[in-house]
Amino acid sequence: MALFGKKETISNALPENLPKHVGFIMDGNGRWAKKRGLPRPFGHKEGAKNFKKIVRYCKDIGLQNISFYAFSTENWQRPDDEIHTIMDLFREYIVDVRNFLSENTRMIFLGDKSAFDEDLQEKMIKLEEDTAHYTEMTLMMAVNYGGRDEIAHAARILAKKAVNGEIHPEDITEQSISNELYTKGIPDVDLVIRPSGELRLSNYLIWQCAYAEYYFTDILWPDFSPAELDKALIDFDNRHRRFGGV
Ligand code: IPE
Ligand code: IPE
Ligand code: MG
Repeated sequence: MALFGKKETISNALPENLPKHVGFIMDGNGRWAKKRGLPRPFGHKEGAKNFKKIVRYCKDIGLQNISFYAFSTENWQRPDDEIHTIMDLFREYIVDVRNFLSENTRMIFLGDKSAFDEDLQEKMIKLEEDTAHYTEMTLMMAVNYGGRDEIAHAARILAKKAVNGEIHPEDITEQSISNELYTKGIPDVDLVIRPSGELRLSNYLIWQCAYAEYYFTDILWPDFSPAELDKALIDFDNRHRRFGGV
């Protein structure tokens, strides 16, 4: 297993101890465009290109679970033309994922799909179903995702089960809540990477990041490179994680 494509790495010094789940907050697209005097949607297009490049690299170096924050429950506040561009890019991603990734990648969407156009929802579900049996890497894309929304959603499911007599309130545990999250069965986030200079989570996987390590950089997402990812992974390897112990 450790042999996964290590030949492709940019840095020769990648650690053996890779995070089980890396969460990427793809931020800074708008500022990338603004710096070039372009409208914000150009930044999203460039960000989408970079998403493909980084996903491919993650696969080459053998990362097993990667998640990408693409659109938050709060991002609906943005101008219509910007939202429109982002929705068109999701349609392209879905077609592209089949083309640009070689086989054996499972794809999961994190978030409430019901807000999207019917055709987009169907494409997302089809892609999840078609890739459900793949085991080499799991690629998660957070769309219409909010950590608080996800926890409220899980609470509603458990409350319904309790009302129906399927469980007792005492049966509700950290594990049973985890089992109702969009990330069911996926390891908690070990490393969060946020480019663009912002030092916050912005409602990303707040439950799953309880003990995550963080890597922040001023680089804007469209410029975030495989070499920068190597740096983040080396940095992660040097952290001393205690999980409340000594
Ligand atoms: C991240 O880039 C993409 C989305 C939130 C959809 P931004 O669009 O937030 O870029 P900045 O932060 O304005 O530069
Ligand atoms: C977080 O970025 C959401 C995504 C990257 C999809 P935002 O740009 O929306 O976050 P804030 O508003 O700066 O916190
Ligand atoms: Mg932003």
